[in-house]
Amino acid sequence: MLIVTMRLSVTNGLLGITLIVFPMFLWTTLYQTLLLPIGINAVGASPLCNGPAADCAFSSTFHHFKLEQTQNKLYSDDGVQPLDDKYEQEVAKKHENVSRVLSINETTADARVAMEQTNKSSTSTHLDDVFLSVKTTHKYHEARLRIVVDTWFRLAPHQTYFFTDKDDQELIKKTGGHMVNTHCSDGHGRQDLCCKMSAEFDSFLKSSKKWFCHFDDDNYVNVPQLVKFLSQKSWKKDYYFGKPSIPHPLEIKIAANTRPVKFNFATGGAGFCISRALANRMSPYVSDMRLVTLCGKIILPDDVTIGYIIENKCQVNLTRINEFHSHLEPLRNINPRTLRDQLTFSYGLSDPRPNIVPVPEPVLPNDPTRFMTIHCILYPESEVCKKT
Ligand SMILES: *[C@@H]1O[C@H](CO)[C@@H](O)[C@H](O)[C@H]1NC(C)=O
Ligand SMILES: *[C@@H]1O[C@H](CO)[C@@H](O)[C@H](O)[C@H]1NC(C)=O
Ligand SMILES: *[C@@H]1O[C@H](CO)[C@@H](O)[C@H](O)[C@H]1NC(C)=O
Ligand SMILES: *[C@@H]1O[C@H](CO)[C@@H](O)[C@H](O)[C@H]1NC(C)=O
Repeated sequence: MLIVTMRLSVTNGLLGITLIVFPMFLWTTLYQTLLLPIGINAVGASPLCNGPAADCAFSSTFHHFKLEQTQNKLYSDDGVQPLDDKYEQEVAKKHENVSRVLSINETTADARVAMEQTNKSSTSTHLDDVFLSVKTTHKYHEARLRIVVDTWFRLAPHQTYFFTDKDDQELIKKTGGHMVNTHCSDGHGRQDLCCKMSAEFDSFLKSSKKWFCHFDDDNYVNVPQLVKFLSQKSWKKDYYFGKPSIPHPLEIKIAANTRPVKFNFATGGAGFCISRALANRMSPYVSDMRLVTLCGKIILPDDVTIGYIIENKCQVNLTRINEFHSHLEPLRNINPRTLRDQLTFSYGLSDPRPNIVPVPEPVLPNDPTRFMTIHCILYPESEVCKKT
């Protein structure tokens, strides 16, 4: 690669293209020839989803095959099977407590500090207008949530909620009670993930916030930049911001004997935001556990189902925002000089070669995800950065 680059450096114009295209090509080739067949990272929809491929596989080359397989099986059983009522009732009952948890009194000194920090960079939308929800599971409380709570959570401790499946006293304390036990099962199947997304969405609908932003537990969120970005748009208009993880719209058959539908979806692993106006319009398809039912009916993961509802039911298009980043893209392509402009980051540590953001040196010690280094570059005044 070095040789190729040096040769081309004579022709300046080509250099830029090579630097961008060649790593992308390498990544795609590597991904498709090596990673996909052995199933590593073949999880288009969500990093939480590392279970059976039938539920999870949404990589570009993968999903048609998998989807057809699952759907054919389904149709041969004579049509779409709705989830059983008992499951729904059970989950709905468990969710009763979710909204109660969310009515925690938020007015503390900490909240004011965080708000002041983002007030500087925002105009019409303020930090307090944004509902930041993070989907996780107790299995990742230690491995993934710790770094989130130590870094960007501090920028929005009163606007961020973690949706998980078990109580964890230490985290409840550390997050000021912002751990929401959804009582969804801790599996990684489609229904479990949809169950959590449903809890997230319902909580937002019941709040008075103006923007719903969903993230996964392996995301770093550049909160002030996100607030600044959202403040340039009106929450009274229909907006669906995010980044697709596949190059073309997904084309699927929702039910037997119907024409295929085509739609884009923002991959949950990069994070996405939905305006209040659009969320209200989605409500008939999503609220009160309807999302779980719909996921079950159309056999799609939660983030894909959200895309389907928005693009097909609400007729609103995804606005692609390049500054959202999931572990499904080659993160090494991010220009380290533009860290401040990015909205989210992620990481993939299980790849043969770690897929991480190329932060400038020095990298802080014990920082495999690079989140601590990113945080301390962006917010050097943060308490955790002064210690190191
Ligand atoms: C809801 O919370 C109450 C009080 O904390 C508890 O007794 C009850 O078991 C919870 N319900 C469910 C379904 O978890
Ligand atoms: C929340 O806290 C504020 C300030 O401490 C207080 O005035 C208010 O009554 C509290 N609200 C609730 C619902 O406890
Ligand atoms: C943030 O800005 C809004 C609008 O200017 C203001 O009402 C609010 O008090 C500010 N919050 C803080 C903590 O400075
Ligand atoms: C959404 O995208 C489709 C396909 O690109 C386009 O035909 C349609 O006009 C767009 N709709 C809106 C409301 O922008």
